[in-house]
Amino acid sequence: MAFIVKKTIKNNDYYYLNENKRIGGKVKTKTLAYLGKTKKEAEIKAKEFLKKMETEKHKNKEEKIEKTADLPKLSTEISVEDMATFCKRKGFVYPSADIYGGFAGFWDFGHLGAELKNNIKKEWWNYHVWQRRDIKGIDGSIITHPLVWKASGHIDSFSDIFVVCKKCKKPEKIDRKDLGKVKCPRCGGDFDEASAKEFKLMFKTSVGERDEAYLRPETAQLIFTNFKFVYENARMKLPFGIAQVGKAFRNEIAPRDFLFRCREFEQMEIEYFVLPDSNCIYGIPDVEILVLSAEAQEKNESPKKMKITDALKKKIIKKDWHAYWLATEFSWFVNLGANPDNFRIRQHRKDELAHYSSDCWDLEYKFPFGWKELEGIADRSDYDLKQHEKFSKKDLTIFDEESKKKILPQVICEPSLGVERAFLVFMFDSYSYDKERENIVLRLNPKMAPIKAAIFPIIKKEEFEKLCSGIFDDLKKEWNVIYDESGSIGRRYARNDEIGTPYCITVDEESLKNKDVTIRDRDTKKQVRVKISELKDVLKKLINQEISLEKAGKLIK
Ligand code: GAP
Repeated sequence: MAFIVKKTIKNNDYYYLNENKRIGGKVKTKTLAYLGKTKKEAEIKAKEFLKKMETEKHKNKEEKIEKTADLPKLSTEISVEDMATFCKRKGFVYPSADIYGGFAGFWDFGHLGAELKNNIKKEWWNYHVWQRRDIKGIDGSIITHPLVWKASGHIDSFSDIFVVCKKCKKPEKIDRKDLGKVKCPRCGGDFDEASAKEFKLMFKTSVGERDEAYLRPETAQLIFTNFKFVYENARMKLPFGIAQVGKAFRNEIAPRDFLFRCREFEQMEIEYFVLPDSNCIYGIPDVEILVLSAEAQEKNESPKKMKITDALKKKIIKKDWHAYWLATEFSWFVNLGANPDNFRIRQHRKDELAHYSSDCWDLEYKFPFGWKELEGIADRSDYDLKQHEKFSKKDLTIFDEESKKKILPQVICEPSLGVERAFLVFMFDSYSYDKERENIVLRLNPKMAPIKAAIFPIIKKEEFEKLCSGIFDDLKKEWNVIYDESGSIGRRYARNDEIGTPYCITVDEESLKNKDVTIRDRDTKKQVRVKISELKDVLKKLINQEISLEKAGKLIK
């Protein structure tokens, strides 16, 4: 405890801030600061000094926390709870309205999370829309005409069975067929069958004074209602797809596992329309993955690793279009740095199929809490277009030039992926603890990284800062980059490793003379020297993985 003391020397008063400390069983007094010659001055200075001391203490504590000493040391060890802690601490994801205690099933994305989420959506859109001639994107409304949900079957069928566990008293959702058969996944207790009731999953709202409406539980339906417009306006020919990215809402009974099951989330969906019974016109990507068919599940067999093309040849996957989309979706993740060993495809058993689906395979991911659905890839046939024809009384058929007949296309595949689940995949697969560096390294693919480059002056001096600012101003036109001048260079590297910044650019004494900088690679720690005039071009090639670091400049040995 600190206190102010006055000392009078030769009739002059001097004020000091002292502190008593017990050292080796004895109380010793230590002077912390000189506070001036008047009591008033001393009180003000003491307050300032103590405040500064408190800030320093806090800063040291934060630095320690920043060093992530209490977080798991290996990517395989990290639990979903630890990931949530890491994401909150680093500014990726916060419980929504955390200052009010959070709101179950709702999450807010921080300054890094918002960037990662945007990068996921951008890369998804690029791969599925911009890079293809056969897919166009739309953006439909969140609150949708109620008849859409009547036609789609959601009003009647989109529900879960709500039960309460007799032991832990927590609510849980189960399938109707499992009533009386399954135990509580949290504590193993029996469910109270008398508590079982149907629970509608759509959020209701009102439009105007009276009209009832719903927040969309999937983005898919707006694709069906707009199908004919896109077909005509974008002058599409079968086979073609319509893509959409946007919010979806489900009043989940038991939101859980961080971002895995939320009440508000985003979907990235495609409805891919084909002529009935037509074959796939594209080459199926040559990829290998664990395959678990419905039949294998019935026989209690383990998944088998095989090429998707072989699964098609062996008729484990029935339709070539389905094989094509499974391989295409898996490749998207792997191309962006996800670990292929953490993926498998699993066919839905008959009793799991949604009301609209005739066959469905899930792309599953090995989350820390088990293999779970990451993306559903369902064959929806012509169910939805037929339903919307029936309810809207509009003709949704198109004229097929070849057969000279009007036909209703089939949705051979609906790849449907949640942004939040993809977010978890990229975080889990990039999180690792580097023993040598003693810090976490988030090895995100540069395209996914929230910050593409951090620019440092080696010391805080005007001439270095000026050069850095110029580089920063130039690079920020292309990417989200940061200017970082606080702490040692090592600390700055560590800080950026932990948030996944792939490249750190340092301006030093040589930069002033030679007009060049050092680029340091996050994953290898290797450094190259690059001319400032070439920096933007080099960085672009590095981010797009067109060149290796060794090819980017003069390697520093
Ligand atoms: N249009 C088809 C459809 O919505 P789904 O299997 O219910 O199918 C598709 O959802 C994807 O949306 C899932 O594979 C998952 O990635 C994501 N998703 C579904 N419910 C979610 C939830 N409550 N929280 C987060 N993501 C969810």
